[in-house]
Amino acid sequence: MSDHELRVSKIRDGTVLDHLPGGSALNVLAMLDIDGSEGTGVSVAMNVPSERLGTKDVVKVEERELSQAEVDVLSLIAPRATVNIVREYAVREKKQAERPESVRGVLACPNSSCITNAEEPVQTRFDVLEDGVRCGYCEEIIREGIADHLDVA
Ligand code: CTP
Ligand code: ZN
Repeated sequence: MSDHELRVSKIRDGTVLDHLPGGSALNVLAMLDIDGSEGTGVSVAMNVPSERLGTKDVVKVEERELSQAEVDVLSLIAPRATVNIVREYAVREKKQAERPESVRGVLACPNSSCITNAEEPVQTRFDVLEDGVRCGYCEEIIREGIADHLDVA
């Protein structure tokens, strides 16, 4: 997208999450535990035209550089996410979200009798499979709609 079409300003320092699936931005923010209470700039553009994806979302988080581990969690709902680390207005690093082996404390297990849903809850752990995720405790598998199982209250 050329500069005159920019929907949100360039940022000085922080992280730009680009090529997120259209409509996924709020789930991406929830996964990162960003809700605006940090007091730093957060810009969200949803359903922006994209040559590669048709439509995409873009999230710009100022004054925070996301780690590879934080970014990898996003691959569950945004497999083609590009992560740009911006310093002094320039993109200094560009990385892809990569599928992690497992994710902890990110998803809730849909099995109500799972130990992770007990009164004294255990932190969730899901192993990441080719086509879904599997609870590390009860082996319940989530294949579709992973974003509907975010444990980020
Ligand atoms: N960006 C920003 N603030 C900056 C620099 C870049 O918000 N100071 C944003 C751009 O608007 C873009 C993303 O970071 O959404 C990546 O920037 P850049 O690598 O310059 O763009 P492209 O080459 O289009 O990226 P790609 O090849 O990954 O599509
Ligand atoms: Zn379970």
